[in-house]
Amino acid sequence: MRVDIITLFPLMFKGPFEESIIRRAREKGILEIYLHDLRMFTHDKHRTVDDAPFGGGGGMVMKPEPLFEAVEKIRERLEPPPWVILLSPQGVPFNQGKAKELAGKRNIILICGRYEGVDERVREHLVDEEISIGDYVLTGGELAAMVLVDVVIRMLPGVLGCEDSARKDSFFHGGLLDYPQYTRPASFRGWKVPAVLLSGNHQEIERWRRRKMLENTLKKRPDLLERINLSRRERKFLEEVIDEYKVEKGRK
Ligand code: ADE
Repeated sequence: MRVDIITLFPLMFKGPFEESIIRRAREKGILEIYLHDLRMFTHDKHRTVDDAPFGGGGGMVMKPEPLFEAVEKIRERLEPPPWVILLSPQGVPFNQGKAKELAGKRNIILICGRYEGVDERVREHLVDEEISIGDYVLTGGELAAMVLVDVVIRMLPGVLGCEDSARKDSFFHGGLLDYPQYTRPASFRGWKVPAVLLSGNHQEIERWRRRKMLENTLKKRPDLLERINLSRRERKFLEEVIDEYKVEKGRK
């Protein structure tokens, strides 16, 4: 996958993109990242990328010309044509499903918005999709672009090691939260690891984990349960968990 990022602050990406899994993916050639400084697509002495809004009001708006020029230049050389994304708090919410969709694309361009906004013609005529990473306002789209790349890249074959991959499959699998994890020591300050995990009975361990996933999701993110398809056995599990949960709450 190739990702072209258009930004006013290319140096912001240095740390996150040169470490850990993203670095490995780049070294393996699974991911190519190109950073483009938006000011390189301006033609005036001051390298102007923003201007005051028509109609008045405070703040500055990102001008359309450098953004169009940058995207068109990058697009010229790419086949299949890249999917152009604007990172902005007005976009569709980013989630695991959206990441999966993007992981299927060969080329994407990420535009990092700054200042108070972006000229509306960029949205209307240049961008394929606008994405938000959450209902809050960042200083700019750069951190959002890093989050997006991090999540998408984990889904590409060969990026994670085998162990991580297997874990990834169960994590968020079917829209559920993960089960609790423990490592040595089996007893720490008197707090013991659940006995079933030390039992060696893989069927029981699997059952316990599935149940804990449902329990965790019910307690922390009940909204997720409404959106997923559960098997008959899982429904039964869930009903039991709900009953236990009610009893537990009643006791408090
Ligand atoms: N730019 C500013 N805030 C943002 C957000 N929440 N998501 C994506 N891009 C942004």
